[in-house]
Amino acid sequence: MSFRVLGVSAHFHDSAAALVQDGQILAAAQEERFSRHKGDARWPAAAIASCLAHLPAGERPDRVAYYEDPGHKIRRILDTARGLAPSGALQWPRMMHSLHTLAENLPGQLTALAGAAERVVLVPHHRSHAASAFYPSPCETAAVLVLDGVGEAASTTLWHGSRDTGLTALAETRFPHSLGLFYSAFTQYCGFKVNSGEYKLMGLAPFGTPSWAGRILDQLIDLREDGSFALDMRYFDFDRRQSGTSPLFEAFFGQPQRHPDAPITPFHMNVAASVQAVLEAAVVRLGRTALARTGARALCLAGGVALNCLANRRLRLDLPELETLWIQPAAGDAGGALGAALEVSEAEARAEGRVAPAGDRMQHALLGPGFSAAAIRAALQAAGLVFVEQTAPAVYADQVAAALAEGQVVGHFDGRMEFGPRALGNRSILADPRGQETLQRVNRSIKFREDWRPFAPIVLAARAAEIFEPPVDSPYMLLVADLRPEFRGATDLGAARAQGLSTPMELQGAIGSAFDAVTHVDFSARLQTIDPGDGRRAGAILQAFEARTGCPMLLNTSFNVRGEPIVCRPKDAIDCFLNTGLDLLAIGPFLVHRAAQGEWVESRVGRARFAAD
Ligand SMILES: [Fe+2]
Repeated sequence: MSFRVLGVSAHFHDSAAALVQDGQILAAAQEERFSRHKGDARWPAAAIASCLAHLPAGERPDRVAYYEDPGHKIRRILDTARGLAPSGALQWPRMMHSLHTLAENLPGQLTALAGAAERVVLVPHHRSHAASAFYPSPCETAAVLVLDGVGEAASTTLWHGSRDTGLTALAETRFPHSLGLFYSAFTQYCGFKVNSGEYKLMGLAPFGTPSWAGRILDQLIDLREDGSFALDMRYFDFDRRQSGTSPLFEAFFGQPQRHPDAPITPFHMNVAASVQAVLEAAVVRLGRTALARTGARALCLAGGVALNCLANRRLRLDLPELETLWIQPAAGDAGGALGAALEVSEAEARAEGRVAPAGDRMQHALLGPGFSAAAIRAALQAAGLVFVEQTAPAVYADQVAAALAEGQVVGHFDGRMEFGPRALGNRSILADPRGQETLQRVNRSIKFREDWRPFAPIVLAARAAEIFEPPVDSPYMLLVADLRPEFRGATDLGAARAQGLSTPMELQGAIGSAFDAVTHVDFSARLQTIDPGDGRRAGAILQAFEARTGCPMLLNTSFNVRGEPIVCRPKDAIDCFLNTGLDLLAIGPFLVHRAAQGEWVESRVGRARFAAD
C-alpha cells in the first residue's frame, strides 16, 4: 500500500504544493504559475489541485504536511510586536493580518485538505528546507546548510543528513541575525525590489570592487571564523521599516537609498561587490564548518541564499574537501512544500524499513503540469493562430534549430513545467547566444526590459568544458563558470573603465566575447548543462543547432515577459507569443511561425502593459 504525502507552503511568499508517494516526487508546482500573480503567497488551491490530479479520482493523500509550525511563528510575531510597541504601530495591521491567517484560516484549510486533523503534520520551516536539500539529492550522507531569511525563528541552520537516521539538527542562528535579510537590506538600499531584486544585486557585483567589505565586516556584521555571525542591529531594522535598514545604515555609507529609477553609479557597484564578498566569506566559512562537524564530503543547500550562484562557486573553489555540492533548485519557500512532504514520507519509510529510491530525485525539476497535444491544439485554435504539426522529433528539432540559426527568437514549451525559479528548457525562450544583437532584441522586444544583465546559456553537457572552465555539471542552472580565454574579447573591465565608461549598460556593451548575450562583464556565465540522452526536446534542439552552426549552446531565458511568472498553460504561452516579438512558438508538436500569422498578430506586439520586476 502506497503512502502519499501532500506538502504545502503558504501565507508568506511563493506558495506551493508537492506530492510525494513512497519517496518518489510525483508533482510539485508554485501557485503563481496558475494565478499569474508573481510570488503569490495565498493558499495554493490551484497548485494543490494540480498535484492531487496525480492521485486516483476521489482519493486523498495519507498525510498533509505543512512547511512550518504556525504556533511557533505566531509566538515570534507576537514577540516582535511587543518589542516594537508603541513606535512600530504602523506594522501592526500587517502583523494582525498574519496572525489572523495563521491562527484562524490555516488550521481549517489544512484539516479540510487532509480530511481529519490527525492527518496534518506540521514540519518546522528549516527542517522542511533541509529535507528539500537532502532527500532528493544523490547523497547517502551529507552536511546540510539552510541559508534563509527567516522561518519561525531560525535563519541559518546546520544539519547532518543520513539515509538511515534522517536529519539531525546541529546548530542554528536566530532572527534577526540572518544572511538572507542582510543581503535583502542591501538589495533594497541599492534600489532593487526585496525578494526578487537579489539577483540584480548579485548581477551588479562583478561590475564593482569590494571596497566596502572590510568596513562592513568591522561594523555591520560580526562574522566569526566558524561562519557564525551576528548583525549589529543598530544598522538594520527588519521590523519597523520595509527597507530593512535603519537611518544609521545610510549614514554609514554616506548616501541615501537609491531610488529605483535613479542611475546606477560606481558607488552602487562597489556596495554590491562588497556585500557579495561578505556573503561569500560567510557561506564558505559555514560550508567548511558544516563539513568539519559532520565529517561529510557532500554538502546540500537550501534556503533563498542557496540561489546565490556566485557564493556557490566560492564553495567549489575554496573548499577542496568538498566532493559533492547539491542544491535544491526550488531553494526558496516554494521548496518548503516539497521538503515537508519528503520529511514525512521518509520518516514513514524508515519506520517501515523501506528503502528510499536512490539518485537525484528532482527529475530535472520537471514536476509541474504537462499538457496533451489535444489541449494545446485546442488552445491554438481558440486563439485563431495558424500552425503546423510536426510529429517527427528529429525534423521538429531541426526546424527549430534552423529558425534559431537565422537569428529568430523561439518560445519553447514542452512537457512538464519546471518547479523553482529557473526555466530549464521546458518553458524557455531560446536564441542564438552569439552577438550583442540578440541580447538587445530579446531585452527590448520580448522581455521589455532595458537591462545590463546577460542571459544564461544552456549548453550540451559533453561540450561545456570546451567553452567554460572549470568543468561543471549544472543541470539546475545554479552554478557559475568562466568563459575560456580564447572566447573572450580584448576589452576587459579595467580597459572599459579606462575608456571612461561607467554605467552598467556602457560597460556591458563594451566588453565583448564570442558569446556576448550570455556572458557577464567578468566573462562568467550562469550555465545550465543538458544531456540529450535524457530525451528532452531542448537537448535535441541544441544538438540540431550544433549540427547546423558548430555552436553547442543557446541563450536560455524564462518564457515570460517582465514582471510575470513563467508561463504554465498553453494559453499563457500563446498570450506571451502574441504580446511580444517572439518569432516562433514551438509548443507541443506544433510550430507557430509569426510570419505565417495575419496582420492582427503583429498589431498586438508591445501593447500589453507589464509590471516592473
Ligand atoms: Fe524559508
